[in-house]
Amino acid sequence: MKLLIVGNGGREHALAWVCAASASVTEVLVAPGNAGTAAEPRVRNAPVGASDIPGLIALARAEQIDLTIIGPEGPLVAGIVDEFRSAGLRCFGPDRAAARLEGSKAYTKEFLRRHGIPTAAYRSFTRADFDAAWLRAQRAPIVIKASGLAAGKGVVIAADAGEALATVQAMFAGQFGSAGDTVVVEEFLAGEEASYIVMADGAHALPFASSQDHKRIGDGDTGANTGGMGAYSPAAVVDGAVHERVMREVIGPTLRGLASDGTPYTGFLYAGLMIDASGAPRVIEYNCRFGDPEAQAVLARLRSDLPSLCMAALEGRLAGQRIEWDERAALGVVLAAAGYPGASTPGARISGLERAAALPGKIFHAGTERRGDAVLTSGGRVLCAVGLGAGVAQAQRAAYDLVSCVDFPGAQFRHDIGYRAIARER
Ligand code: AMP
Ligand code: GLY
Repeated sequence: MKLLIVGNGGREHALAWVCAASASVTEVLVAPGNAGTAAEPRVRNAPVGASDIPGLIALARAEQIDLTIIGPEGPLVAGIVDEFRSAGLRCFGPDRAAARLEGSKAYTKEFLRRHGIPTAAYRSFTRADFDAAWLRAQRAPIVIKASGLAAGKGVVIAADAGEALATVQAMFAGQFGSAGDTVVVEEFLAGEEASYIVMADGAHALPFASSQDHKRIGDGDTGANTGGMGAYSPAAVVDGAVHERVMREVIGPTLRGLASDGTPYTGFLYAGLMIDASGAPRVIEYNCRFGDPEAQAVLARLRSDLPSLCMAALEGRLAGQRIEWDERAALGVVLAAAGYPGASTPGARISGLERAAALPGKIFHAGTERRGDAVLTSGGRVLCAVGLGAGVAQAQRAAYDLVSCVDFPGAQFRHDIGYRAIARER
């Protein structure tokens, strides 16, 4: 089988890496990929951008691709799966209608409410119907979200009504482009977050291992929200009882609700959950794809054959499929460029990758490109160093051993990835 992975981040490097290891796979193309995917055995980059849907269809045809797996949300929300399907090509991911679960937070909140799926109380507004008096009357902290896609940066937790008002006004004024034309205001949820990712075939869900992301840029969960600065798997907060509740109260009703609305969901479905002290899950957000950096930690533990599972999902055969995991914990630390999550300047030279390759674990690339003999930074999140260990503390040690090998000017990373789980282990 010949595969195409669409995207150029750490998640796509991890997807290409696990797929290339499959006995049923002869070659994996990544469009456009990065310096890390280019260096993997049986993997080749193709210079087609992730949002160039006609170019990707032409590539899949020319290369006789058997299965395309979409990494990022952009092309999914734009309808890449519909277009591949119309062209008679197999493509793993939700179609445009199902991908609205990530593409519009206002739609998702209404969907969750209509189907009785637990989530924070909310109201959504456009500039035309915004109710400033209502907002001022809300209890702080107040959560403000741009409804559309904003690369994980369109959420502000306002400490008081003044900050909330200013945030809403900035979003209406175009801070996130059209993503902020509609703004969702919601209740602040207390608890511990977890990422719960399943594979769905339109009706059934196969749960993947749980994980926990670290969204803030700074140690101790301080500073700006990012796309994710590190993750580990499994997430201790998702114990057996919580897992049961998530499947029964969240994932099951979501897949049934989508099917009964006429928009059945096939692909990776990522529930961002808040788990309260009683173990009750609430949906913070849905993503229509695997998480990044969750994929790097979760897929490092995958023992089953991913391409076969994708094929089973596309053929509606997920019921009864099993999935196996390395018993060890995995933990990934993201190295980001100076300036991230704001704008960063590309072109910094990365050193120490060969030294890191001699250690156990794996460095996945994100914003990197090869220029002659050098590997240079080319994006905000640059690398993700993943270690494995008997527990999260050991996995953390292995990951930071890798981090200490590599460097580039201005590199920033968190020093405390996994701290909640490690406190529990103690
Ligand atoms: P989102 O992009 O919706 O996942 O939001 C980004 C981050 O903001 C989440 O990972 C949470 O840490 C935080 N967040 C979002 N909504 C809420 C909420 N209702 N209560 C508390 N924290 C939230
Ligand atoms: N790590 C969060 C995300 O992928 O959205």
